[in-house]
Amino acid sequence: MSLALLGLTAIMVLTSLSVLSNMIKEKLGSLRDPLQVWEVLHAVDILPMRLRAWIFSAIVGFANPYARTINFRITELRKGKACGAMKETKEISNPYRCVHAAALITFGETVGSLALFTLLGKSDRAILTNISAEYVKVSRGLLTASSIVTPIKDREATEVVTHVLIKNASFETVSKLTLTWKVDLKDTF
Ligand SMILES: *[C@@H]1O[C@H](CO)[C@@H](O)[C@H](O)[C@H]1NC(C)=O
Ligand SMILES: *[C@@H]1O[C@H](CO)[C@@H](O)[C@H](O)[C@H]1NC(C)=O
Repeated sequence: MSLALLGLTAIMVLTSLSVLSNMIKEKLGSLRDPLQVWEVLHAVDILPMRLRAWIFSAIVGFANPYARTINFRITELRKGKACGAMKETKEISNPYRCVHAAALITFGETVGSLALFTLLGKSDRAILTNISAEYVKVSRGLLTASSIVTPIKDREATEVVTHVLIKNASFETVSKLTLTWKVDLKDTF
C-alpha cells in the first residue's frame, strides 16, 4: 500500500471513530448511564480493547471536562464497580515528581462517580457534596483506582457515601477517597 493510501485509510478510520464517539455522546448525553455506553462499545468486537478503553475515556472526558486534564483509562465497569488507571505525566506532577493532589481527586472522582452511576436509574439524581482525600503514601508512576458500591436498598435514602482506593503499581494503597452524595432516588427497581 502506498503511503498516501495508508494516510487516507488512517484518516477514514479516525473520522468514522469520531463520528461513532459523537453519536454515542449525543445519544447518552451526560453519561447518565455509563454501563450502557460501556456495553455498546464492548459489543463492537472489531475494535481492539485498547481503542474501546480510549473511546470510553474520551466520552467520559466529554461529560466531565475536568477528567480531560488527566491521562486515564477506565479498565472495568460493571454494576456497582468501576476501575481505572492513570499514568503519571509531567502535567499532573508537582516539582517533587509525585502526582499532584488535585489530579488524584479528579481521578478518584471520575472512577467513583462511574461506580455510583451504574446503580442509578434514569430518574435518579446524585450530586457530590463532599469529597475527602487521605494521602497515605507518595503517589508515583502508574496508579489504579477502584470503587465498589453496594446496591442502594433504601430508596428513601438522601445521602450515600462511597469510597475510592488508589493504589500504585506495587498494589500499595496511596490514597483513600470518601465521597458523599446527595441522592434523589425516584426509580423503583
Ligand atoms: C466530608 O467528609 C469527610 C469524610 O467522610 C468528613 O470527615 C468531613 O467531616 C465531611 N465534611 C463536611 C463539611 O461534611
Ligand atoms: C508503591 O508505594 C510504596 C510505598 O510508598 C513504595 O515503597 C513503592 O516503591 C511504590 N511502588 C511503585 C511501583 O511506585
